[in-house]
Amino acid sequence: MNNIFQPDEHNLERAALTIKSGGLVAMPTETVYGLGANVYIAAAVAKIFEVKQRPFFDPLISHIAETDFLKTYAQTDERVMALAKQFWPGPLTMILKRTDNNAAIDLACSGLPNIAVRMPSHPVALELIKKSGVPIVAPSANKFKSVSPTTAQHVFDSLGNKVDMILDGGACTVGVESTIIDVTGKNIIILRAGGTAKEDLEKFLNEKVLLSDGSPDKPSAPGQLLKHYAPNHPLRINAATRQPGEFFIGFGKIADCDLNLSPTGDLREAAANLFAFLRQADAVPGYTGLAMSPIPENGLGLAINDRIRRASYKA
Ligand code: TXA
Ligand code: MG
Repeated sequence: MNNIFQPDEHNLERAALTIKSGGLVAMPTETVYGLGANVYIAAAVAKIFEVKQRPFFDPLISHIAETDFLKTYAQTDERVMALAKQFWPGPLTMILKRTDNNAAIDLACSGLPNIAVRMPSHPVALELIKKSGVPIVAPSANKFKSVSPTTAQHVFDSLGNKVDMILDGGACTVGVESTIIDVTGKNIIILRAGGTAKEDLEKFLNEKVLLSDGSPDKPSAPGQLLKHYAPNHPLRINAATRQPGEFFIGFGKIADCDLNLSPTGDLREAAANLFAFLRQADAVPGYTGLAMSPIPENGLGLAINDRIRRASYKA
C-alpha cells in the first residue's frame, strides 16, 4: 500500500487536518513536489529536516496562498508588493526581512534574520494552504542532495511512508525549482536561478538583476551546494556525442540520443523534463554513465545549467 492520494475534496480536507496537527504532507507545486509542514509547529518543521536528512543550517521556503499573509511575518515594501503582484502565484521566491521570531519559524529559517516566501501556482498547493489556514514550509520532497521530484511517484520512491500523505497533482509543469531573489538590499540578487527567467525580472523592474557568485557581498542560498541534484551515475555535461557505455540525453536537433529534453530546443520543455529524465536514465540497466548535450545559457537555461553543473560535480 502506498500513501499517494488523489486530491479530491475529502483527501484535501484530510491533508489540511494533517498539516494543522503537525504531520507532513507532500504537495504538488508547479516547480517540483514539496514536503510540507505547518510553519508554526516546531516539531513538524524539525521532522522535515529529519525525513530529508537535511542539515539544520539549510533554511526552508514558506508557501502562502494570499499576499496578505506576508504582513504576519515579513517586512514588505512597494517593490516587493509589485513583484508579488506580477509574478505570484508562480515560480519566484523572495527573501524578505523576517518579523516573527517564534521557535518554529526560527527553525525553518535556520536562525537567519530573513525568510524565504513564495506563492505557488499549482491549484492543489493553493487549496491545501488555504484549507490549512497557515503558511506551509516545504523543501523539495526528496532526500538531501538527490534529484528533485516532479511526480508523486518520485516522492514515494524517495521518501516512502515517512510522509503522512502524498497528494498526486500530476507531473510538475515547470520542472525546476523557483528562482530565489534577495530583495532585502538596494540591488536585487538572484540566489538561485529557477523557473522565473532573469530576463523577465529585468524587463519588469527595468533594471539589471545581479547573479550571486557566492562572494560575501553577493551571498548565495545556503543550500546550493556544489554537489546537489545528483543521479547515481556520473553525469558528463556539454557533451557533443556519446562515449561508449553512456546513456545520452540530447537537447535540440540531436539524432543519436536515448532521450531528448526538447527536440525543438524549447528551454521550458527541457526544464519540465529534466529531473524525470535524469531519474529515468539512472534506472536503465547496462550503462556506466550519463551524458547531456550543451544547454544555452539564457531564459530557463540558466536554471537547467545550474542544476546539471551541480548534478555532474565530482567531489
Ligand atoms: O520551487 C521551489 O522553490 C521548491 C518548491 C517545493 O516550492 N522548493 C525548494 O525548496 O526548492 P528547497 O528547500 O529544496 O530549496 C530552498 C532553497 C535552499 O537552497 C535554501 O538554502 C534557500 O532556498 N533558502 C531558504 N530560506 C532562505 C533564506 N532565508 N535565505 C537564503 N536562502 C534561503
Ligand atoms: Mg531541494
